[in-house]
Amino acid sequence: MSQTLCILGRQPALGLAELESLYGSGVLRPVGQTAALLELEPRHIDFSRLGGTVKFCKVLTVIDSSNWGDIQKFLAQSIPEHLDYLPEGKLKLGLSVFGLKGVSVQRLNATALELKKTIKREGRNVRVIPNKELALNSAQVLHNQLTGSLGWEFVFVADGQRTILAQNIAEQDIDAYSLRDRERPKRDSRVGMLPPKLAQIIINLGAGRQPAPPATTDEDCGSLSSVNFDKTVLDPFCGTGVLLQEALMMGYEAYGTDLEPRMVEYSDTNLHWLQTTIRPIGTSFRLEVADGTNYEWPHQKSFIACETYLGRALTTLPSENDLQQIVQDCNYIHKKFLQNLARQVNPGFRACIAVPTWRTKQGFKHMPVLDQLTDLGYTRMSFVHAAESDLVYYRDDQVVGRELVVLERK
Ligand SMILES: C[S@@+](CC[C@H](N)C(=O)[O-])C[C@H]1O[C@@H](n2cnc3c(N)ncnc32)[C@H](O)[C@@H]1O
Repeated sequence: MSQTLCILGRQPALGLAELESLYGSGVLRPVGQTAALLELEPRHIDFSRLGGTVKFCKVLTVIDSSNWGDIQKFLAQSIPEHLDYLPEGKLKLGLSVFGLKGVSVQRLNATALELKKTIKREGRNVRVIPNKELALNSAQVLHNQLTGSLGWEFVFVADGQRTILAQNIAEQDIDAYSLRDRERPKRDSRVGMLPPKLAQIIINLGAGRQPAPPATTDEDCGSLSSVNFDKTVLDPFCGTGVLLQEALMMGYEAYGTDLEPRMVEYSDTNLHWLQTTIRPIGTSFRLEVADGTNYEWPHQKSFIACETYLGRALTTLPSENDLQQIVQDCNYIHKKFLQNLARQVNPGFRACIAVPTWRTKQGFKHMPVLDQLTDLGYTRMSFVHAAESDLVYYRDDQVVGRELVVLERK
């Protein structure tokens, strides 16, 4: 069975937890600092729903060396025999390296030029995409169509003394993300800007295990995204609707509520824009004005995925007293929300909530309610391949990070 290699995003633990949540820990193995190997064929993984994977690759082989000279020899020998499988036309070639010692950008570019000569000797025209860093970035891959039928991006990942050689078959679509993020008609920096990629991760952590791949060998069988149609994602703090938008894109029904009528209007405008501007969506959404601390959600909800109330927007760390007050306010709302939810859902109901955590000089300050989850009726889910402490999304310039908490009703 062929394997899949995922090159993970800026915070690899988030990508690992996402893959583990969807496909289970048994088929997943982290490789080095930035990659994950899955004992699943690429066609059994729905790459379009993954927020934490940047490069989605098919494993070609494992080279029994981590020495770049050996790898270069291997390529020079094996590339000619594979050229026949490519269609007519000018090829595009790129190389990306992760974790291999002794490889510089200069050396990588020299190898690429050697390979260009090898390919030309076989009578094929080829353009090499020069490396500015050891790995090609998404813009280079997409704009040079390296994942297209005439493209070859070889991805090398050090795995102990060996090297995994994979071919990139899909790159994270940065242009599509940017459109779904920046071009939405209603945005509000006051409630924060949830990046669509992070929204996808939150949904995938809330969704949990996906059904096993269909027992078929048909190469054309569909991806697993089609299994979402009868499932509804509830976001009780929907704000401008990024999470609902991503849920709809994945094929879920979306149900959003928010305390502020203006936010519900924003979500409504944004989700209509999604359906008319980005693409028609097969599923529908429902929105209501509601206080998450006491509302009884009357409609179907399969699981919760949300970014909760993050407290006052902060650009600098406040005084200790002010921070104490902010944490207390947030804590109160979260506790009431979790108590309210626990009354309404059955054992096994799952939720991924992205909650605020504050970066202080002593490290992250967490809400006290996270230590009372058992008493509130929840089990906090842990991951084999990602430590709980690493499941915090933050940028260096941010005071408030988002801690991803995955819960199951006991
Ligand atoms: C961080 S924002 C969520 C942003 C959202 N992810 C988006 O895509 O824009 C938190 C939201 O929680 C809402 N909120 C605050 N307290 C609430 C409560 N008690 N019940 C429901 N919503 C609440 C706020 O109005 C705000 O829109």
